[in-house]
Amino acid sequence: MANNQTEEIKEKINLVEYIGQFVTLQNRSGRFMGCCPFHKEKTPSFSVDPDRAYYYCFGCHKGGDIFNFMMEYEKLSFPEALEKAAAKAGVALEKNGDGGSGRNRELKLKKEALIELNNRLSHTFAYFLLETDQGVQALEYILSRGINRDTISFFQLGYAPADPRWLYGFLQKKNYSPPFLEESGLFSRRRRGYPLFRDRLVFPIFSLGGDSVAYSARLLNGEGPKYINSPETVLFKKGKLLFGLGKTLPHIREEKSFVLCEGNVDVLALYQAGCRNCVAPLGTALTEDQLKLLKRYADRGVILFDGDKAGFEATKKAAILCENLEIGLKAGILPEGQDPSDILQREGGEYLKKIVYESIIIFDFLLECSIRIVDVYTPEGKSTVVKELTPYLRAVKSEVKRQAYLESMADKLGLDRRIVILEYQNGSAPAVTLRQNSQVEPEKMSDELYLVLIALANPSCVSELKKELHSGELRDSRAVKLWELMEKWEDIPQEPNDILSRLNDNEPLLFYKEWIKKDEMKLNVQFTLERGLRVIKLRNLERRSREITALLNKSGKDDDRIEAELLNEKMRIDREIQRIKVL
Ligand code: CTP
Ligand code: MN
Repeated sequence: MANNQTEEIKEKINLVEYIGQFVTLQNRSGRFMGCCPFHKEKTPSFSVDPDRAYYYCFGCHKGGDIFNFMMEYEKLSFPEALEKAAAKAGVALEKNGDGGSGRNRELKLKKEALIELNNRLSHTFAYFLLETDQGVQALEYILSRGINRDTISFFQLGYAPADPRWLYGFLQKKNYSPPFLEESGLFSRRRRGYPLFRDRLVFPIFSLGGDSVAYSARLLNGEGPKYINSPETVLFKKGKLLFGLGKTLPHIREEKSFVLCEGNVDVLALYQAGCRNCVAPLGTALTEDQLKLLKRYADRGVILFDGDKAGFEATKKAAILCENLEIGLKAGILPEGQDPSDILQREGGEYLKKIVYESIIIFDFLLECSIRIVDVYTPEGKSTVVKELTPYLRAVKSEVKRQAYLESMADKLGLDRRIVILEYQNGSAPAVTLRQNSQVEPEKMSDELYLVLIALANPSCVSELKKELHSGELRDSRAVKLWELMEKWEDIPQEPNDILSRLNDNEPLLFYKEWIKKDEMKLNVQFTLERGLRVIKLRNLERRSREITALLNKSGKDDDRIEAELLNEKMRIDREIQRIKVL
């Protein structure tokens, strides 16, 4: 993305006018002031500077340009903000790379054509379901599951005809070319022109922009898999979208929370019951990408998975991912053997809503579940419960919460609290948390050393990390030394031992060797590296910010220019600190 394009956009949009749509601003000699939209206040400390196209709050230190504002206030991703602002400014965006010609352009056109095709087709499928005789059985089926017509229309459900010749003929008549249709994800790879979805109830999958990009189609009669889902295409990547999201996003955005269930029909049931911020993971196990997507709009959620062993395992995995992403997760307790759609049908929407409202914190849920699954009256069983919950407990960031959870687990199991804590600690390598202040003591782990060792244990990450981390940012001399050696690595990943053998004899070699062997060094690598980097950057910025404050206090009033520069730098740093903190 050419930098001058963002500059051009910023120049063309009047920031005062733009922010003025959301915040009442008053002109105070060229600067516009208002009450900050990012924190609660009565006297205005939020300022917009139209000349520099920049806003800043003196209260909460949030600040930035039009793109930051759109991301922060309107909860858009950067590409979304860019697109919106470009449209507003009347600037045509060049795409990366070849400036909008060649392959990218071709891909863009193909995507647009596929979207047009899918949008058209989901309307045709919906027409078959709602208006034709061939769709009657499918319609009756879904109505008999307690899903009403409004919900059916809202999610644009449809019916794919049984006749295998219909789809190809229909699309040929509309002049789509055969090679294009082959890549559409609608036909069998083995039999040309043979449609994947026949005589099925069709659930279109919508992109965030609200376009139909794929389908999940449920069996009605006869043999075959219960669901057939579209294969991946240029529009649709599995594990990156959620069922329902394209429709329920406004509610997720508004409530800043989501309700996550297992099946497509459950999403319909929840929506109909009034829990409109609902989604499901689309057949595959819930992925980190899917949660990251939700995290853009919501900071908490409720999970409604089955209480059986498989549901427990899936919930546990989701809980760990949510903990890593700092999403507050609760769980609803479903009656045994029932899913949300069963509940809507048998007990009604109010009851389903009540289950969502009465959801409990995720640790309590996991504890209850594992106690239900395991025979906790035996010593073996008690120990199993501790082991089952250990991976989640290790993911918990707050030491206070972890301690409280361990204690409540001990109480539930009727065990001495200290014993449970010991069992937890022995069950896995002691938790190494990245602490904010690294104390440099021989043979002790610091956050910096931990970060560098993780990179050492996962050499393929080194070249990425090199772009982000410079030895000058490190304080722990052992980390500095190791990182300086690793920075000299060429781009080909090398053997950790190769580096270790180049350390001086007096380096605590054994200590390093022990650490890089540990399993935990290979887990959640990307996440741990990102978090470690954040801690280091944040600490350095905070240090510089304190330095500047000290300098400002000392400098008196004799040099305005230096003072202005320092103030500017501090503003920049404080903004960067805020930015890193919300990442
Ligand atoms: N699923 C799938 N392929 C299958 C079975 C299930 O992709 N063969 C996915 C679908 O997205 C489905 C979800 O897993 O919605 C949950 O499965 P299940 O609970 O069996 O489906 P429901 O949608 O709840 O269907 P129903 O209530 O009609 O049984
Ligand atoms: Mn179901």
